[in-house]
Amino acid sequence: MIREARVFADSANLTRAVAEESLRITNDAIAQRGRCAICLSGGSTPKAINALWAREYSSRMPWNQVYLFFGDERYVPQDDPHSNYRMARETLISQIPIPAQNVHPMPTNFPKPDDAAKEYESQLRQFFGAQPEFDILFLGVGGEGHTASLFPGAASLQETQRWVVYAEVPPEPHQRLSLTYPVLNRAHNLFFLAEGPGKREILQAIRRDPGGPTSQYPAARVSAPHIVWFIDQPAAF
Ligand code: 6PG
Repeated sequence: MIREARVFADSANLTRAVAEESLRITNDAIAQRGRCAICLSGGSTPKAINALWAREYSSRMPWNQVYLFFGDERYVPQDDPHSNYRMARETLISQIPIPAQNVHPMPTNFPKPDDAAKEYESQLRQFFGAQPEFDILFLGVGGEGHTASLFPGAASLQETQRWVVYAEVPPEPHQRLSLTYPVLNRAHNLFFLAEGPGKREILQAIRRDPGGPTSQYPAARVSAPHIVWFIDQPAAF
């Protein structure tokens, strides 16, 4: 089930639309609440929006009132090539005037990864209070329908209380931290970004899928109130 899909001729048009929509939401959030909480996705797709934000929105986005979090992380050191934080630091964070204290990477230096998950949840609860309501939460989708580090058949799909869990997943790096559906489903604006021909098959499958809590595709289980799929033509069904 894909209720709202915005299809763009190419990555440049898609990325521009994401940047403008994000700017609008950010300004609204700051006008209403004095801050904007954005949750970044991992993987490679976000590199394009990060580059545009860094290149053209460094002064247009009110970064000093934006707070950045992460939807999932590979349990590796922050300078590891697989680190989602490293990717975000290199393509975005190091190039925009955002205060260091506004950036919340998932910790990956605890001996027990589950303790790192608990620490991040504590940071989220300290920031949000009772409900983790991101103004914008970005997600990607993998070929088998995973999103964040929620993979088909995983126990993490059933989590209803914890906001952050440790999970071992099929692809390398196997050890991950991930936000859970209780957090994803509270986002005010949830943006899936899917680009390239490699996403076409899974997008067709998700489009045909009824979605909901029993879907075989974790991405299709997400039930936030406002979900938008930003898709480029090569990925379009
Ligand atoms: C991760 C991501 C993951 C990603 C999808 C799509 O840590 O890998 O959070 O869920 O969004 O695998 O990845 P691409 O953007 O690289 O296609």
